[in-house]
Amino acid sequence: MDTAPASAPPALQVDCDVVVVGAGPAGLSAARHLTRAGLDVVVLEARDRVGGRTWTDVVDGAVLEIGGQWVSPDQTELLGLLEELGKETYSRYREGDSVYVGPDGVALRYRGAFPVQEKTAAEVERLTALMDELAAEVGAQQPWAHPRARELDTVPFASWLREQSADEEACRTVGLFIAGGMLTKPAHSFSALQAVLMAASAGSFTNLTDECFILDKRVVGGMQSVSEAVAAELGGRVHLSTPVRTIRRTAPDGEGEGVVVVSDRVLARARRVVVAVPPPLFSRISHEPPLPRRQHQLHQHLSMGLVIKVHAVYPTPFWREDGLSGTAFGADALVQEVYDNTLHGDERGTLVGFVSDEKADALFALPADERRRRVLESIAGYLGERALEPDVYFESDWAAEEWTRGAYAASFDLGGLSRYGADQRTPVGPVHWACSDLAAEGYQHVDGALRSGRAAAEDVLAALHGAGAPAPADAVGA
Ligand code: FDA
Repeated sequence: MDTAPASAPPALQVDCDVVVVGAGPAGLSAARHLTRAGLDVVVLEARDRVGGRTWTDVVDGAVLEIGGQWVSPDQTELLGLLEELGKETYSRYREGDSVYVGPDGVALRYRGAFPVQEKTAAEVERLTALMDELAAEVGAQQPWAHPRARELDTVPFASWLREQSADEEACRTVGLFIAGGMLTKPAHSFSALQAVLMAASAGSFTNLTDECFILDKRVVGGMQSVSEAVAAELGGRVHLSTPVRTIRRTAPDGEGEGVVVVSDRVLARARRVVVAVPPPLFSRISHEPPLPRRQHQLHQHLSMGLVIKVHAVYPTPFWREDGLSGTAFGADALVQEVYDNTLHGDERGTLVGFVSDEKADALFALPADERRRRVLESIAGYLGERALEPDVYFESDWAAEEWTRGAYAASFDLGGLSRYGADQRTPVGPVHWACSDLAAEGYQHVDGALRSGRAAAEDVLAALHGAGAPAPADAVGA
């Protein structure tokens, strides 16, 4: 990577209205709205590519979506952008039977609801209804403001589930959708309120558990191509391989309020900055003067989950010949979710699977060939022996990435959401925050990233309006 040493003075100095730090979906969304509003924007991105946690790459001849990829019908901000950019989508393959592996390790084919015992099925249904009710009541916008926020935020989701039901399989099944499936943290490490936010952000818990809803479509050309298209619109305003190190707030109380943003290659003077990086990376940027106490504390309570997205590409989608959809679940299995992830127009068949939180810790402790063997055996437990011999095998390892450090996203620790949530997006003078991990609707998803970028742009425009910038309503709606 062509990066100057941090100590050398930046080669390029620019003056602009707004600096955006990070060219992921949130940062690019903010930059797009601000640019359309007539402001002069510069985007500084640490990596040598745009897209952040969305990334399409070729691995041993196979095109893989290494990060975020799926779109659901409620994700209207993303769907709207896809339409504007002229991007097409395609459906995930879902014909045939799915496979469920219960605590006894037996693989069962099913359609519709999981093939669990009647009593457990009734409990799953009851817990789902309870979560739906809470999600509707608490909502995604301000979960911290609900009268029961503190009560729900001080009990681990794992304990809360067991307070509601004595059926262990039902608790583990319902827990899987939020813990392993979304927040990618053990269910004892985050609160019931955090789980409710996750459900509310997708419209309901039922939506989250319906893979036909939440994993509905993919983007032809890959999700990263959305960011690439927006970056192409922004042109020379986007600077790659440019990690931001320091943000200096100038004249905090005076008319000339602004920022100096220092990166390895560019020094940018601006009126406002939008920091659009994952929250656990906020503290990688020095602030002069230091951020207020509240932000120092708040930022320490947001941490990334951990999931390994495993990809296996076969000469054909062999499972389809057996009448299987490729969808498989098992709360106790190493690979707890599997889906047909065959690329649009590809003759080969691709499976994607997920290994989450503590199972991912244990897997990463093994040598690469042993990891591969165990993952493929786990997938074969659902779909048969032919899963053992893919042409291409790849593990997405976002936690090892300097500029991400986990997957899928960041969430609050126990009690953090009710204690700090209200301030997570509050600007500090001219410093604004955007990220999918701070979103309401679309939380932890590309859609939420786009929404948070738009919201930050609206805040910037509102703040600058008095100082002569275009009115936000005219501008952002343009
Ligand atoms: P994001 O992390 O994408 O971008 C932040 C950018 O800031 C990065 O480009 C980074 O390099 C840059 N940066 C960091 N520090 C910097 C610094 N100091 N200076 C300059 N730049 C800096 N979502 C979805 O909708 N559907 C899905 O199917 C999935 N699946 C999925 C799978 C996996 C494996 C992952 C990791 C993630 C997903 N997601 C997903 C989540 C989705 O990818 C994620 O929500 C968005 O990419 C977040 O966009 P942001 O712009 O908020 O952050």
